[in-house]
Amino acid sequence: MLRSLIVVTQPIPIALRCASFCLSVLMASAATAQAQPMPVPSHARSGADIYRAGCITCHGADGRGGDQALLGFDNDLPNFTECDFSTPEPDSDWLAIIHEGGTVRGFSQRMPAFKDLLSDREIEAVVGYLRGFCEARGWPLGDLNLPRPLFTEKAFPENEFLLTTTVDHGARAAVGDSLLYERRLGSRAQYEISVPINVQKGSGSWTPGLGDVTLAFKRVLHGNRTRGRIVSAGTEVLLPTGSELRGFGRGVTIVEPFVVAGQMLPSDGFVQMHVGAELPTDTAKAGRELFVRAAAGKSVMEGRWGRAWTPMVELLGAHEFGHSEPTAWDIVPQLQVTLSRRQHIMISGGLKFPLNERDERKSEFVSYFLWDWLDGGLFDGWK
Ligand code: HEC
Repeated sequence: MLRSLIVVTQPIPIALRCASFCLSVLMASAATAQAQPMPVPSHARSGADIYRAGCITCHGADGRGGDQALLGFDNDLPNFTECDFSTPEPDSDWLAIIHEGGTVRGFSQRMPAFKDLLSDREIEAVVGYLRGFCEARGWPLGDLNLPRPLFTEKAFPENEFLLTTTVDHGARAAVGDSLLYERRLGSRAQYEISVPINVQKGSGSWTPGLGDVTLAFKRVLHGNRTRGRIVSAGTEVLLPTGSELRGFGRGVTIVEPFVVAGQMLPSDGFVQMHVGAELPTDTAKAGRELFVRAAAGKSVMEGRWGRAWTPMVELLGAHEFGHSEPTAWDIVPQLQVTLSRRQHIMISGGLKFPLNERDERKSEFVSYFLWDWLDGGLFDGWK
C-alpha cells in the first residue's frame, strides 16, 4: 500500500499524504469493525465514504476538482459534474484508472493507484459515487458505446473522426476513402458529415474524384445501462456531389431513415442492428432499397486493463424494390483493435464477401482509423 503511494508522493506530498492517511484511517476502522463478532454491513465503506477519505483532497467535495494552488500541482482535474465529459466514459476506463493509476490510460501519474488500498468492490462503489456527480438525466452511459462495426451504424451518440478505406476489386478497380466527422449535440443527439474521396482505375490510369457527401442526424430513443440496451433513430441524406458518369456518385439525392440498436451481452459480448430504407428523390435514377445490417462480437482485453481486441462478424442484406433480383447478402468478418493507451485511437479491418450473386458482386477490403477526439488529441494518451 505504502509503496504504490510513495512512488507518486514525492512531487505532491500534501494531497497524497492526506489521501493515504485518510484511507489508512478508514481501513483501520474497517479492520476494527471486522474483528467484532457482528457481521460488517456491506455499506460500511460506501462509495461516498471512500470518496471522502481518498479522493476529495484532489477531486473536491463537489467533484469539480480541488484547489490547484493548495494541491501543489497544475494538472487539470476532471470535472465529474460535466455530464458531456463524464457520462461517455465507460466504467471499465475509470475502474482501470482508479485501480492502476492515471498512467494506465495515458493520464498523469498524479492520479494515484488504489489497487493496494481498495478492493474491486470498493472501486466499483466509488465509480458509482462518481456517476452521481452528473445530476442531469437522460445521458446514456459510456458502457452502451459498443465497438463500431464496419457497416452497421452505432446507436451511441459520438464525438469521433473516422477515416474509412475501401478497396474494391470489381470490374472497375477502386479505392474509396471517406472522412467522417461525428459530433454530439446535448445529451442524446448527434450529427455527422461524411466526405468521400474516390480513386478509380479507368483506362490504365487512376482518377481521383469527390463522391457523394452525406449528412446525418440521430437521436437516442432509449438507453438503459441495467438492461445493457440502447436504441436510436435518425435520417441520413446523401447529396449527389459525386460525378455519376465517372462512377463516383449515385447521381440522385437519397433520403435514408434508419433505426439502430445495441445490446450488451455477458463477458463483453454484444449485438448491434441497423435497419433502414434508401429513398431516392427520383426513382428513375435509383431504386428504393430496404437494408438490414447486424453485427455480433466480443471484446478481449490484453491483461486486465490493456489493449482491447474485438473480433466481430457482420451480416448485410439489401433488397431493391421493383426488381426481380433477390436480396443481396454479404458477410463481413473483421477485427478492431485499440492502439493508444487511452483507448481513444483504434483501427479495424475486414473483408466483405458476397454470399449470393457472386458473379456480379466482388469481395471488398474495408478498414477504418477511428479517433475519439473528446478523450484526447491524436498524440495524447500513448504512454
Ligand atoms: C493526488 C491527487 C488525486 C487523488 C488523491 C485522486 N485523484 Fe483521481 N485524478 C487526479 C488527477 C490529477 C487526475 C487527472 C489526470 C489527467 O488528466 O492526466 C485524476 C483523474 C481521475 C479519473 C479520470 C477521469 C477521466 O479523465 O476520465 C478518475 C476516474 C479519478 N481520477 C478517480 C479518482 C478516485 C475515485 C479517487 C479516490 C479513490 C481519486 N481519483 C483520487 C488526482 C487525484
